[in-house]
Amino acid sequence: MDHFNYRDGRLYAEDVALDDIIDAVGTPFYCYSSATLERHYRVFAEAVAGLDAHIYYAVKANSNLGVIATLARLGAGADVVSIGEMKKAMAAGVPADRIVFSGVGKSEAELAEAIDLGVHQINVESEPELEVLGRIVAAKGVTVPIAIRVNPDVDARTHAKISTGKAENKFGIELARVPAVFSRARDLVGINARAVAVHIGSQLTDLEPYRQAYGRVADLVRALRADGHDISVVDLGGGLGIDYQGEVPPSPADYGAMVSETVGVLGCAVAFEPGRMIAGNAGILVSRVIYVKQGLSRSFAIIDAAMNDLIRPTLYDAYHEIVTVREAVSATRETYDIVGPICETGDTFATGRALPALDAGDALAFRTAGAYGAVMASTYNARPLVPEVLVCGDRFDVVARRFTVEDQMARESIPDWLGGGDVAEAVVAHATIARKASA
Ligand code: LLP
Repeated sequence: MDHFNYRDGRLYAEDVALDDIIDAVGTPFYCYSSATLERHYRVFAEAVAGLDAHIYYAVKANSNLGVIATLARLGAGADVVSIGEMKKAMAAGVPADRIVFSGVGKSEAELAEAIDLGVHQINVESEPELEVLGRIVAAKGVTVPIAIRVNPDVDARTHAKISTGKAENKFGIELARVPAVFSRARDLVGINARAVAVHIGSQLTDLEPYRQAYGRVADLVRALRADGHDISVVDLGGGLGIDYQGEVPPSPADYGAMVSETVGVLGCAVAFEPGRMIAGNAGILVSRVIYVKQGLSRSFAIIDAAMNDLIRPTLYDAYHEIVTVREAVSATRETYDIVGPICETGDTFATGRALPALDAGDALAFRTAGAYGAVMASTYNARPLVPEVLVCGDRFDVVARRFTVEDQMARESIPDWLGGGDVAEAVVAHATIARKASA
């Protein structure tokens, strides 16, 4: 359920016509709906309300400050995987003591800074990381609460690139090894190992892998307690799938019930790190057709967004529904390959997609692009990062401005031995006078 609907033949984000945003910022751009973000957060919060639940929004899904601030207002904490994400969460209003720091490769500098900022919990993913953390807290003379992330060796039955809970994946510490790691943690001054964390993957559409993994976590907590460890928190990660192409993911309510069954009896606080299910349906990517090109065997709609703006189709063969911003009047459909301007064939959003007849200038919207969209963008082909717009009722605000090529060049330079100098001036200096048609 989202708040992108047609009214009088025009696509709206809440009470704002996308055409009005196009006029204001041009294309392409991402557009997010506050009401959808809020709704998804609330639905999730209600689904786990029977537990001592703590929700840490997985900032990696969409780290726009406006988006994080919208969720922070509702009481969301943040799950971060870099010091950069931690600072963005704090800038958006999440207090440091509501931030969990996950990730398989946190550097010593990042760990130290997160501790200085007052991070709530660090999810440790390896024995070497525990040793580094032990040294940092000893040197600082502080105590930090940690979780040990366990790898439960469960197949999440999702795309291989976003599966994280199998033994061959780089994440967490194998179950059998975890008791020894807790014992080691107990010996380290300043380490308060009080939580077990798990995250088996993303875009899960089936509860069974969760049930298996959480069952193993519950058994582990019992075993650790029998060893005398005071485990008061389980952190169950994120991963709930959403509907991109007719998938029927478990409802948050069913997920909540399964959590109660598997870990509810432990009497622990339960942490959650949802990302996609909060932000996914809350965003669209709006783009315009540059050309419609008739190939030998197919029609290409070449649009002004590209794989650098939304990499999911290229990287995971992901499906995003594409709709026209002007609602089609006729029921006739044509078949198009929807492609971007980038110089590789992988820059293809969809093949053989049935859409109303398209013309140059028509605006399209990629639905379900609020999670892992803008955050995964790059400037490949010297393309500027696109603006992000947040809608709230009948208001909208540009919450990330369009990057320019000048922004890009401002962080680069030409070395002295090649002449150095001001890059912007160099553009002017190297311009030639346009030739007259007759020349
Ligand atoms: N917690 C941890 C430790 C994670 O690694 C992740 C996601 C989450 C929570 C949030 O998972 P979610 O609720 O969003 O499924 N770029 C990929 C998805 C990568 C997910 C990485 N980890 C995509 O576009 O599908």
